[in-house]
Amino acid sequence: MTEPYLQVKNLNVSYAAIPALANVSIDLAKGERLAVIGESGSGKSTLAMAIAGLLPKQARSSGTIDFPGLSHSPKPGKDIGVLFQDPSGSLDPVMKIGDQIAEVAMTHQGISWIAARVRAAQLLDRVRIPKPLSRLNSYPHEFSGGQKQRIAMAAALAGNPSLLIADEPTSALDTVVQRHIVDLLDELVREAGLTLLFVTHDIALASERADTIAVLYQGRLVETGPTVRVLGEPEHPYTRALINTHISLDTPRAKRLAEINVADL
Ligand SMILES: Nc1ncnc2c1ncn2[C@@H]1O[C@H](COP(=O)(O)OP(=O)(O)O)[C@@H](O)[C@H]1O
Ligand SMILES: [Mg+2]
Repeated sequence: MTEPYLQVKNLNVSYAAIPALANVSIDLAKGERLAVIGESGSGKSTLAMAIAGLLPKQARSSGTIDFPGLSHSPKPGKDIGVLFQDPSGSLDPVMKIGDQIAEVAMTHQGISWIAARVRAAQLLDRVRIPKPLSRLNSYPHEFSGGQKQRIAMAAALAGNPSLLIADEPTSALDTVVQRHIVDLLDELVREAGLTLLFVTHDIALASERADTIAVLYQGRLVETGPTVRVLGEPEHPYTRALINTHISLDTPRAKRLAEINVADL
């Protein structure tokens, strides 16, 4: 087997002594698109942020996260682009979007301000924001939710990352917009040959878009493997329950667990 791009070994993360991830180990190959699925609170965001190097200060962690596929330690923003569920979280409300994207490009690519502005306009065009040159001077609030997520994508790509981490990037958007954003994300990932880790509670989305799936349940990685294998021949009862019941991981926990029949797990 070729060397993995990313290797997580025995990762434990806790918040105020309460474990959020227990002994998670996972490899990611270069160019692989991995979906991390699991119900709310299962540790998906914690895993994504640990890999991005963006765990909150109060988090305690042990284990290792290595990037054999990189010749240096990864820098968030440069080697790793991050997209959050709420694009407002990644965009500064009082800064023009062109400046925000250009700043990432200038900082991480060592190019001049003028070149960075041009790059920002190109990226806005690439994420299909109309009239990109004139929109450089607009503020985030002048755009719709879907457009803001496109702009966040442009900012995430401005450092030319090799890994993109997307934490439920479409959950806050309505269904039609969601599909457009996911299609665009797919396109950009393929075009740039990015490795992708995306978090989703939508098992249907994972089945369509991921090469591999990792299932988290209460902070443990209960199953991982190629999408076709995990969904076609799930080994873990929790994965089987997810597939069989077709429930959305969005529904409140009590209702969900009643449907899943925890006694089987
Ligand atoms: N900043 C934080 N401080 C304290 N507890 C947290 C924090 N972030 C997450 N947690 C807890 O860690 C667990 C995993 O959360 P999270 O990784 O956000 O799960 P998911 O993304 O799957 O919903 C949950 O029990 C959550 O309450
Ligand atoms: Mg989350």
